[in-house]
Amino acid sequence: MLLVMGITGGLWTAALVVGFVGFLILYHFLPLLLLRNGAVPKGSFGWPLLGETLSFLKPHTSTSTGVFLQQHCSRYGKVFKSHLFFSPTVVSCDQELNYYILQNEERLFRCSYPKPIHGVLGKNSMLVAVGEAHKRLRNVALSLVATMKSKPDLLIDIERTVTRILDSWKDKNQVIFCEEARKYTFNVIVKQVLGLTPEEPRTEEILQDFLTFMRGLISLPIYIPGTPYARAVQARSRISSTVKSIIEERRGNSCKKSSDFLEILLCVDTLSEDEKVSFVLDSLLGGYETTSLLMSMLVFFLDQSPSAAQQLQLEHRRIRSTKKNDEFLNWEDYKLMEFTHSVINEALRYGNVVKFVHRKAIKDVKFRDYIIPSGWKVLPVFSAVHLDPSLHANALQFNPWRWQSGDQTCKKFTPFGGGSRCCPGFELAKVEVAFFLHYLVQNYRWKVEDSEQPIAYPFVEFQKGLKLSVERLSS
Ligand code: HEM
Repeated sequence: MLLVMGITGGLWTAALVVGFVGFLILYHFLPLLLLRNGAVPKGSFGWPLLGETLSFLKPHTSTSTGVFLQQHCSRYGKVFKSHLFFSPTVVSCDQELNYYILQNEERLFRCSYPKPIHGVLGKNSMLVAVGEAHKRLRNVALSLVATMKSKPDLLIDIERTVTRILDSWKDKNQVIFCEEARKYTFNVIVKQVLGLTPEEPRTEEILQDFLTFMRGLISLPIYIPGTPYARAVQARSRISSTVKSIIEERRGNSCKKSSDFLEILLCVDTLSEDEKVSFVLDSLLGGYETTSLLMSMLVFFLDQSPSAAQQLQLEHRRIRSTKKNDEFLNWEDYKLMEFTHSVINEALRYGNVVKFVHRKAIKDVKFRDYIIPSGWKVLPVFSAVHLDPSLHANALQFNPWRWQSGDQTCKKFTPFGGGSRCCPGFELAKVEVAFFLHYLVQNYRWKVEDSEQPIAYPFVEFQKGLKLSVERLSS
């Protein structure tokens, strides 16, 4: 009897396993069976459930497209289908399609980041909001950026933060540059958004919580106490409380004639309290890691290109020579930094701070001969276009001089995205970097110590933090 029960139980278990596997396979390939009209791009759905996600996420240097994209593009072309992040997906390495996707936000495509990211960012974050909610948040962002730019204090604050960081190197012969760059961009954005100086204890508290928060964004989304994901969600709520308490302190101030970021935000009546707090978090998040990474890339590429470093130094010495001692830089000086702009653009192109963005098709989209079915994920890969040799001569070389010919169209260069979700902080990022370079090239010589590379995980990182030996130049 026991034997019969054992066999029957075993058969049931086997039937359940087979049924489950069958269901997974059917569920995985169902989107292909449901296709109605037209052909989807060629490609492969990979393994049930995971699809090709692991190969897609395989780390590679951010100055290359990586084996996955190389192999898939040569096998299927620049636009191919795949199964990534648990969704049927169309991957685009094609400049025309990428541009079309960005320009048709909310008409044909919609921003669609994986669900776990919503868990950490919160449902009111502009980075994940869609439709009317996104429009409201974005309008506030654009007017705040405009106000920030018109404040004379912005440039002075940035400059003071640079000199403070570089002065702290005076007696050092080695620095971990990524840490220094993060300190710099964090101090700039916290001062602009919350009005906090680096000395205030709350700045350090927010920074520590922020680091935890960032780690969670890129971790396995498992909410068990102690996991990086759970810690990130908790860190987010601590930052929210700190921001709320700063908001409360400021509430007494009048709305009229105020030019301070937080005070203007407080007076906006189109946003709820939670949206305002999320808004502050978005600004900190958006303005911190990306900009510091761009700085690290610049320092890394300039180390390998002494002629570019030298030309940069000449440009900044020339600008400095027109100013009185200790006179602050202004927007006119910034505009004169022509070669600096070329160097920054080239680092954005070659280094690829943001490799791709997440979208989904909200209706069947016909593009050239194929169809992108409604509901499928769409990934415009910016790095593939930035490193495409048919669009950029010697694409795999750092060559800032290419930007002086003026044939770089916005279709083939989208480091800040495009369309109605284009990065609102791009100008702030560029001016921060340009001012940092102004002081760096005039005051220090540097050498990258470990031969490390920027790695795309796909978020980009220098694993050892980019150790530099530094030497102060005599004035
Ligand atoms: C090198 C520096 C930066 C890079 C490469 C960068 C890149 C990007 C990209 C590619 C997007 C578009 C995302 C998408 O389409 O899904 C974006 C959006 C955004 N960025 Fe930046 N960014 C940088 C600096 C900044 C700074 C300094 C701030 C804020 C002060 C900022 C705030 C934002 C915000 C709030 C969004 C969301 C915009 C929206 O959804 O409408 N970013 N950024």
